[in-house]
Amino acid sequence: MIEAGHIGQNLFLQAEALGLKAGNVGAYHDKELIEIMKIPCTHEPLLIMSVGYAA
Ligand SMILES: Cc1cc2nc3c(=O)[nH]c(=O)nc-3n(C[C@H](O)[C@H](O)[C@H](O)COP(=O)(O)O)c2cc1C
Repeated sequence: MIEAGHIGQNLFLQAEALGLKAGNVGAYHDKELIEIMKIPCTHEPLLIMSVGYAA
């Protein structure tokens, strides 16, 4: 979990450095996310970190 936090921090910092914005989404449907992203059963999604241009 701590490593996931470190990765997330780096993602947010890098997004800012590139002129982008990052955001956290913790409320999602696990099953649908696993299906859409083809996440293997050995992995468990913890958080969606979206990156894009600010509105
Ligand atoms: C771990 C975590 C999970 C979050 N999950 C959600 C979420 O599921 N839905 C949501 O609207 N905001 C969620 N947020 C908050 C958003 O990432 C964001 O900070 C918030 O919507 C305020 O956005 P703003 O600063 O652009 O107004 C979460 C934040 C954190 C730290």
